[in-house]
Amino acid sequence: MSERDKDAISADELDRMSDDELVRLGTRLDDVRLVQYAERWPVPGTKMERRALRHVTGWFVLAGVSALALIGVFVFWPYEYLPPGAPGYQVRTLYTPMVGLTFGLTLLGLAVGAVAYAKKFLPQELAVQQRHSGSSSEADKRTVAAEFRDAGTRSGLQRRTLFRRVAATSAGLFGLGLGVMAIGPLVRDPWKHGDSPDSLWRTGWKPINGETVYLRLDTGDPDEVVLVRPEDLRAGGYVTVFPFRETDREEPERLHAALRRADSAVMLFRFRPGTTVTSRPGREDFHHGDFYAYSKVCTHLGCPASLYEQQTGRLLCPCHQSQFDVFAGAVPIFGPATRPLPELPITVGDDGYFVARGDFAEVVGPGFWELKP
Ligand code: FES
Repeated sequence: MSERDKDAISADELDRMSDDELVRLGTRLDDVRLVQYAERWPVPGTKMERRALRHVTGWFVLAGVSALALIGVFVFWPYEYLPPGAPGYQVRTLYTPMVGLTFGLTLLGLAVGAVAYAKKFLPQELAVQQRHSGSSSEADKRTVAAEFRDAGTRSGLQRRTLFRRVAATSAGLFGLGLGVMAIGPLVRDPWKHGDSPDSLWRTGWKPINGETVYLRLDTGDPDEVVLVRPEDLRAGGYVTVFPFRETDREEPERLHAALRRADSAVMLFRFRPGTTVTSRPGREDFHHGDFYAYSKVCTHLGCPASLYEQQTGRLLCPCHQSQFDVFAGAVPIFGPATRPLPELPITVGDDGYFVARGDFAEVVGPGFWELKP
């Protein structure tokens, strides 16, 4: 049937047709030949039909229970970092697997339930259709909609209230779980517990009880402590350093954690003699001679900015190509980063090792919305 013939069918005529008539009209309009179109359960309410329904409902129940468990795990399961061996460590290591397991079971329940329902209840249809081009006519749209309604009616969806509710509830719970996961991190206040050493208000470089914070290398052995002296660095080079306090030696957990903390990594540069360096206002005395220390955490999205070109003073972050000019206070000069890399105030102590003179004067890392100046 041509598009013109289809357009000749008036809206009034379509209104007067039942879904059954619209379905048959739709197949004719689309040059579809129904070889077979039979209801799965011609006699409603048989034992076999009820068993099939229980089977399908079971998958949606699984999806609903898993979605509830997903929400419970996301909200209540302890997830904070604990060092290996500490009480509660094992439980915390299960957080991510539990989120994955409940998320996967929910998707599995919804997917298998939907497929099982289609296989067991939608009419058995075998159709042959010629391929058409062009946009759909009004008659096409109405008849296709009728086909969907008809499939719902014939599959018994309208009269299976309990099943509809279970399927809709499990899908809704899954959606709710996704919503909780999306909104949950925004509800937590990262600025709470300002006094805690792990707070975002401070980094691992902040002095505690006036204790000296040294600059330490990561040798690959978390128990080995190698401090840095000016003569350890050749002109034009840089090393990555981490904070160290003498009292950390007594507590291996702290000794290890200082190397892992996200905001600890700092690049200690030694510029060539005679290099013209411009410090940012208020940071003129943060350096020690030709030695300058900048946070290694890119202010765009937190990757380690580590590709250094010593002739030009450009530091490249490999993630999205932000570039910082370390000869000019590590200000961004290219790419998506909008803030300079924070500078760590340093000096050399009486024992000849580099020490931090205090914490960073600004927030380390990405410019997320919750940053405070
Ligand atoms: S994280 Fe460095 S440029 Fe994006």
